[in-house]
Amino acid sequence: MMEMDKETLKQWQFFMMKYKFGLDEMNTKLNIINDEFQFLHDHNPIEHIKSRIKKPDSTIRKLRRKGLEPTIENADKHIKDIAGIRVICSFISDIYTIFEIIKGQDDVKVLQVKDYIAEPKPNGYESLHILVEVPVFLTDRTENVCVEIQIRTIAMDFWASLEHKIYYKFQKEVPASLTSELKAAAEMVHYLDHKMKNIKEEMDLYKLMELEV
Ligand code: GTP
Ligand code: MG
Repeated sequence: MMEMDKETLKQWQFFMMKYKFGLDEMNTKLNIINDEFQFLHDHNPIEHIKSRIKKPDSTIRKLRRKGLEPTIENADKHIKDIAGIRVICSFISDIYTIFEIIKGQDDVKVLQVKDYIAEPKPNGYESLHILVEVPVFLTDRTENVCVEIQIRTIAMDFWASLEHKIYYKFQKEVPASLTSELKAAAEMVHYLDHKMKNIKEEMDLYKLMELEV
């Protein structure tokens, strides 16, 4: 681990602040969407939200991995996941609902979309990744802050957290048997998400029929 003098540490902490504010803004937006949606449609699209700020030391490690000098300027320019939010939904349709609503907001700029649900990674990983920019109004200026949002179902999240643990446990050299078991589990995640969708649709039909009588 690199030693950082007090002054440098302070500069990094100051630089990181805007990311915390960007996270706060996005979290508020997501909570508002969830609460109003619940009121209007009697269904909460968001199960829960987790967010984190990448620490200066892991930001510096990531810059080095990318072969870049560990400077604040480089972090600002090249590290897009300093502010990260994970939104966990019950159903796949909720994922796209959240995405469409966020995309429609005037002050949010969508910079990038990676749809690993439409096209899962070879290991079976599924999630919708979006990179957005939100304005943060500071004491004397406005900064556009980049936030990475990963939106996934409970089942996808269950899979991703186990896969992550295995990946780290084996230092990236995962035994072939585990890789193929994970792949099989990913197929079950996919199956479960579709099964749950069908059950929900059937339930919604019953609700509609009740309204009609
Ligand atoms: P990095 O940000 O350098 O990781 O690369 P990238 O921006 O090309 O990656 P991508 O958008 O594909 O993924 C970014 C994040 O998604 C990672 O930091 C993880 O949190 C998550 N992620 C991506 N792929 C996997 C995966 O195969 N397994 C798990 N558990 N998480 C993943
Ligand atoms: Mg990334």
